[in-house]
Amino acid sequence: MIICESIAELDAALQSRRRNGESIGFVPTMGNLHQGHLSLVDLAKQQCGFVVVSVFVNPMQFGPDEDYERYPRTFDADVAALNGRQTDVLFIPPVEEVYPNGLEQQTKICAPAFLTEVLEGASRPGHFDGVTTIVMKLFQLVRPDAAVFGQKDFQQLKVIQRMVGDLNLPIRILPAQIARDADGLALSSRNQYLSAEQRAVAPHFQKALRELEAALRVGKRDFAELCAMAEERLLTEGFDRVDYIRICDPDYLTPSKEEDSRFVILAVARLGGTRLLDNILLGA
Ligand code: PAJ
Repeated sequence: MIICESIAELDAALQSRRRNGESIGFVPTMGNLHQGHLSLVDLAKQQCGFVVVSVFVNPMQFGPDEDYERYPRTFDADVAALNGRQTDVLFIPPVEEVYPNGLEQQTKICAPAFLTEVLEGASRPGHFDGVTTIVMKLFQLVRPDAAVFGQKDFQQLKVIQRMVGDLNLPIRILPAQIARDADGLALSSRNQYLSAEQRAVAPHFQKALRELEAALRVGKRDFAELCAMAEERLLTEGFDRVDYIRICDPDYLTPSKEEDSRFVILAVARLGGTRLLDNILLGA
């Protein structure tokens, strides 16, 4: 694996690949890699001859009160993990190169409001514009044929798919299934913050959403009641708070209607200070 710590190094590493017409698969990340991230690398490798992974903690997508400074930076462990997974290039650019004129007067890619003003976007103003801007920058630098995004961050995946369509980008977006622990908990860097007791409660999140899914599958359509029941179950099982449980249209993230046949259940629940995010897509 070639480690590129500047844009010039990336260009040099990709030059001959581009000349040979080799297809480039790209996996953008913020590092602190776990098996979920690595499953994205595997998917990229299945689809493309050459795989580039980026690790860049993007200041623009963090709000002023969020954990940009504290975000775990685990370079050595990330390199070790990627070395075992057929990564060809690891791109770790410095902030000054990615934002050469600083953050303040940066031209931005504005994600469409209908996707960003709801759910995660509602509590994180500007977050998705930060995501689209960095992803567009990385696409410009790497110029991949395909890029992999996890369904774990369902709203982010929708925003990126929409950006690629709206801006006519010649890049295939490959959605990757949610990687889970054996007990069903979706893998996340945040899981490491859970105490042993909280970790024992956490699998109920997925169980409650599966129950909701089963109800939808047998034709139940009282969405508000189903979500309220799931929320109640989580609070009973020991969750401290449920930010939301919603049943939405998978393309527009608008509330589902009775006659719909495709749904995504999107949920965020908290154990202590840890915010867990999960979703289930059905009928697609
Ligand atoms: P990060 O949180 O590091 O996630 C990188 C990618 O890994 C995202 O596409 C995310 O959906 C995926 N991912 C995380 N956990 C997963 C799991 N359990 N199963 C499957 N995929 C999983 O998302 C970001 O970084 C940033 O916003 C980024 C796109 C890199 C832009 O800065």
